[in-house]
Amino acid sequence: MKVPYIPEPFRIKSVEPLKLLTREEREAKIAEANYNVFALASRDVYIDLLTDSGTGAMSSAQWAGVMLGDESYAGADCYYRVQDNAKKIFGMPYVQLVHQGRAAEKVLLPILLEGKKYAIANMHFDTTRAHVELAGARAIDCVVPEALDTTKYYDFKGNMDTVRLVKYIEELGAENIGVIIMTITNNSAGGQPVSVANIRETAKIAHEHGITFMIDAARYAENSYFVKEREAEFKDASVAEIVKAEFECADCFTMSAKKDAIVNMGGLIGCRDKAVFELIKQRTISYEGFITYGGMSGRDIEALAEGLEEGIDENYLRYRIGQMQYLAGRLEEGGIPFQSPVGGHAVFVDAKKLLPHIPYYEFPAQALAIELYLEAGIRACDIGSYMLGNDPDTGKQLEADFEFTRLAIPRRVYTQAHLDVIADALINIKERARSIKGYKIVEEPPILRHFTAKLRPIE
Ligand code: F0G
Repeated sequence: MKVPYIPEPFRIKSVEPLKLLTREEREAKIAEANYNVFALASRDVYIDLLTDSGTGAMSSAQWAGVMLGDESYAGADCYYRVQDNAKKIFGMPYVQLVHQGRAAEKVLLPILLEGKKYAIANMHFDTTRAHVELAGARAIDCVVPEALDTTKYYDFKGNMDTVRLVKYIEELGAENIGVIIMTITNNSAGGQPVSVANIRETAKIAHEHGITFMIDAARYAENSYFVKEREAEFKDASVAEIVKAEFECADCFTMSAKKDAIVNMGGLIGCRDKAVFELIKQRTISYEGFITYGGMSGRDIEALAEGLEEGIDENYLRYRIGQMQYLAGRLEEGGIPFQSPVGGHAVFVDAKKLLPHIPYYEFPAQALAIELYLEAGIRACDIGSYMLGNDPDTGKQLEADFEFTRLAIPRRVYTQAHLDVIADALINIKERARSIKGYKIVEEPPILRHFTAKLRPIE
């Protein structure tokens, strides 16, 4: 299906040069990196799709904010501005700055999980899972079954499976569950949106059982745009109104501002409960810094305050989601399997389908990521069994529900021509898919291993 490209609602003022190494050079670089894309130098990458996190291009207004940033230790101007904007957008009475999403998790999750055994989410992002485990609890994913079939169209593949959620609560005991988390959009399922109806229903179930309901808000603006497009109740609502409808159900939220607030660094925690907020402030001071800067420079806080507004601009979101839909359209034409319909921040190529001869314990999605680098200098990453890691109890390799190679698109950075290079590279790889081999791990740390593990191709 030909999908038209929605033109950029901006022009470009500052550029960064890119260089494409030769195939031989790329072979040497990826071997030196022990076949771990995180160990590649960015200068050796042509198109960097490793993440959409902190990799966006700031606007001229945000750069102007960098000069306005007030670097006072306490009570800086930018602190008040970000507080005002965040409270206005999310409608939460208490908001705390932190330096990124995982810092928000590190501060908040141990408070919610104290004396508890479980956290249940539609899907936990890997750092969220890590902080649940570090707080001594287990993280359970409970996404709708529709998400698992990458070929089937479903409007809200990010949704919580509320029937299964109720069963989990009955089996595990509500008193053992510290928090129910809704990740919007659902990154691990493919940047898939969650409907407001599902957020409301999940919140209701949580509250009926006396369990805290939290939103992981990393990509809340993209989620809200999908709601506007796909959920009848909200077709005439503004994105800002949809955000309100989503967050009014939540007791608290964590947010990596490096995504939908289009900044290179930043995070937020929001909550409604004053006693919880007191604990958040105490922990922020010891882990992040005084509460009015929360581990951030004043200049970055100013850019964040501005980015919160730009991230929910509907012209921007139409272009942003449009880029994803254009790339997905080209891949569909080329017969490349991916999580369909495409999500908000990335195309998740279904490596299980593209490389069916590679079993999960030889990491097909990682193999495809490496192949993309060899083919065209593109850096993508595995969201599959390689990222999931080993069972914390038995040490055995877990099998992920998906084997995705994620092509995360940085915000306002790459053009239509770059997207065509990506599509062409995958189409070329498909031609020789059968000859691609799996990988084995030769060295790995116990937690979040995908960042630093060393791999070798299986001959
Ligand atoms: N929650 C979600 C849904 C995320 O996608 C991320 C980060 C985090 C929390 C943690 O935020 O990086 O600011 O500490 N996701 C990035 C990614 C890293 O590539 O998807 P952070």
